[in-house]
Amino acid sequence: MKVSIIGQGYVGLTISLFASQVHDVVGFDTSREVVATLNRGMSHIEGVDSDALAEVIRKGKYKATTNPSDISDSEIVIIAVPTPLSIDRKPDMRFIDAACQTISKNLRRSALIINESTSFPGTLRNYIKPGIEKDSSNSINHLYAISPERVDPGRGDFNQRNTPRLYAGLTPEASEQTRVFYTSFCEKLVEVSSPEVAEAAKLFENTFRQVNIALVNEFAQITHALGISVHETLDAADTKPYGFMKFTPSAGVGGHCIPVDPTYLAAKAEALGAPATFIRQANDVNLGMAEYVVNRVVQDNGGSIEGKNVLIVGVAYKPNVADVRETAAELVIKHCRAKGALVVWHDDLVKNWNGESSSHLSGADIAIVLTKHESINPEAIKSSAPYVFDTTGKINGVATF
Ligand SMILES: NC(=O)c1ccc[n+]([C@@H]2O[C@H](COP(=O)([O-])OP(=O)(O)OC[C@H]3O[C@@H](n4cnc5c(N)ncnc54)[C@H](O)[C@@H]3O)[C@@H](O)[C@H]2O)c1
Repeated sequence: MKVSIIGQGYVGLTISLFASQVHDVVGFDTSREVVATLNRGMSHIEGVDSDALAEVIRKGKYKATTNPSDISDSEIVIIAVPTPLSIDRKPDMRFIDAACQTISKNLRRSALIINESTSFPGTLRNYIKPGIEKDSSNSINHLYAISPERVDPGRGDFNQRNTPRLYAGLTPEASEQTRVFYTSFCEKLVEVSSPEVAEAAKLFENTFRQVNIALVNEFAQITHALGISVHETLDAADTKPYGFMKFTPSAGVGGHCIPVDPTYLAAKAEALGAPATFIRQANDVNLGMAEYVVNRVVQDNGGSIEGKNVLIVGVAYKPNVADVRETAAELVIKHCRAKGALVVWHDDLVKNWNGESSSHLSGADIAIVLTKHESINPEAIKSSAPYVFDTTGKINGVATF
């Protein structure tokens, strides 16, 4: 089948590589830089292997493009564009709108349109379908389905093949065609009764993480006040073989999903007059952790970090990836600078970020570890500054929550 995938980022490129083992894939992206890099056989996404990409390009099974008319004869079109928050932290649907326009203006045959972008329940039925049909110059009837993406970039044990995939079509025919498509490269498919169930399940998965992370972040503050170790206490609780799942404290949540998706659920809930208390509260707790960490560092350093050289270790939002979207490092650095510290950062995966480059892992007065990539040696971190505050709980013998 000819498959077009709109958006060639973490989700779109990952799915492109799996799909191109079986189908002919066009990866449409508005970024010329991304498209040029991909067509040279170079992946910009962790977990998507450049050699495997070069191989499907060589076999003629994949090409990236910025030309929207390349999707015109697709049998399947997948939407994998960003769904961020606006500056006032509301769902920002501009990229979905643009993808709908690309489809309605360029797709010249009836196709199965599958949304993989994360969004509020009702997006497929009440937003994407009308969005595509309102601009269509002709009366082509498409089929519509949702299959929310669960990819966890940088993860080795679960991938597109072995992660169960939820799906639902707007019609039984759309559901069936969606099942057939994903069966070609996914081992376990789970059909649900409506697109809204699939959309809500995806949001709830990430809300579950967001709320539990907030809970453990609050707990870290309680254990500190109690004068006991949060990590030892969590390990103790984790010996219970049922009814407990361990989450660990941090300087805040990052990435495109956990800090963002729950707000899509909250916005929809509130529009319907339903409560979203936990989601709002969890957001506040998680966003407050950066300041809490900096205050702890200030306390440990005689009440001031003014004029001190502070080294932030790891600015990617999680280990072993170069992704800095919504990273807690942004707020930690802001709070340190507001207290007069001279801040640099070290991250051998990120290298350049916010117009700054990764510094040496040495010579600081204070090091604050936010993310510990496997490539970073704990001993090198310990010797980078006389005082180290580790938010990851992975470095022994230094200050932590
Ligand atoms: N990253 C993850 O781990 C993850 C996991 C599950 C679900 N999701 C969801 O998947 C969706 C995509 O996320 P992502 O992480 O792949 O984003 P991304 O930022 O990595 O990639 C998005 C790509 O889309 C391109 N793009 C933007 N507007 C476009 C348009 N109008 N037409 C074509 N291309 C366009 C961008 O240039 C970019 O290359 C989001 O809804 C996200 O919430 C992400």
